[in-house]
Amino acid sequence: MARILTGIQSTNVPHLGNILGAIIPAIELSKNPKNDSLFFIADLHALTTIKEAKFIIESTKAVAATWLAFGFDNKKNTFYRQSRVPEVTELTWFLNCFTPYPMLANAHSFKDKSNRLSDVNSGLFTYPILMAADILLYDANFVPVGKDQMQHLEMTRDIATAFNNKLGNELLVVPEGMVDERVMNVPGTDGQKMSKSYNNFINIFLPENELKKVVMGIITDSTPLEAPKNPDTCNAFKLFQLLASKEQTEAMRQNYLKGNYGYGHAKTALFELILEKYSQQRKTFNELMSHPSKLEEELSIGEAKAKKMAQEKLAVLRKALGFA
Ligand code: ADP
Ligand code: TRP
Repeated sequence: MARILTGIQSTNVPHLGNILGAIIPAIELSKNPKNDSLFFIADLHALTTIKEAKFIIESTKAVAATWLAFGFDNKKNTFYRQSRVPEVTELTWFLNCFTPYPMLANAHSFKDKSNRLSDVNSGLFTYPILMAADILLYDANFVPVGKDQMQHLEMTRDIATAFNNKLGNELLVVPEGMVDERVMNVPGTDGQKMSKSYNNFINIFLPENELKKVVMGIITDSTPLEAPKNPDTCNAFKLFQLLASKEQTEAMRQNYLKGNYGYGHAKTALFELILEKYSQQRKTFNELMSHPSKLEEELSIGEAKAKKMAQEKLAVLRKALGFA
């Protein structure tokens, strides 16, 4: 039995990049009967960049609704809001005291965020320690993450090892990060990596007319309609390819190569494919968003399970540290 754990920050509605790159692969892993999975919504991490309670609440609902809409089985697995198991903040403090300051100062994501954001708070700096606590509190063996998070996983391993070396080898499980090399780097509407921070994302749950506007806004070059086009340098084609079957992709490739097929046609085909492929998920997502009590019910089941695990683990750690 392997324990898989991962979290997604509640900083907006998950976009197509989050869904293809993180949510679907994690749900696939959770279906293996040999795995026990914990998936959570990192709302405390979201506070490092978002200070509006309303926005945090809406985003938290949206992340939960996305997991469920994409088929996460809440009976087999554990699903919770990070903030509802505040034991994680106590463990964060313990781990703070085992984390060398220069380790944090060298984090790529902190350097990147502190160059970009105007609010450079201490939470951004200690972000990796809260992440380590998320993982170590639940004895996770494997943590599926995107490449950008691997350094945080290395820090988690270093912190756990330092803790174990001081207090006892078996206290914390040293986890492994899992990056699926095949996981696409989903491009955004401007061709850069799709990201909330670049405002180039596709929210597949938007009403049809708004979704169409976003898809039609994908940036393409100015090759005239009649001319043959290179599919491999086109954002609309790259996105289409990530969602379409082999046959659909091949047909689209031929359309590009033969000419008389405009980018507008390709974007319309992409828009229609999103609607068709995700019609069930769009429906479930919107139903859940308009019935928050259903979401609340699902989350509270997971939160009760997570809390019990967290309390048991903390009791052991408090004792080891002399705080029992
Ligand atoms: P964002 O860059 O939009 O803020 P996050 O950092 O919150 O996204 O990422 C949440 C998860 O989604 C991570 O596991 C990350 O690796 C994955 N992810 C984010 N953007 C993409 C993308 N464009 N392609 C593939 N995976 C992505
Ligand atoms: N930092 C992760 C991200 O931005 C989210 C996250 C928080 C996480 N805690 C975690 C992921 C623990 C895996 C395990 O994508």
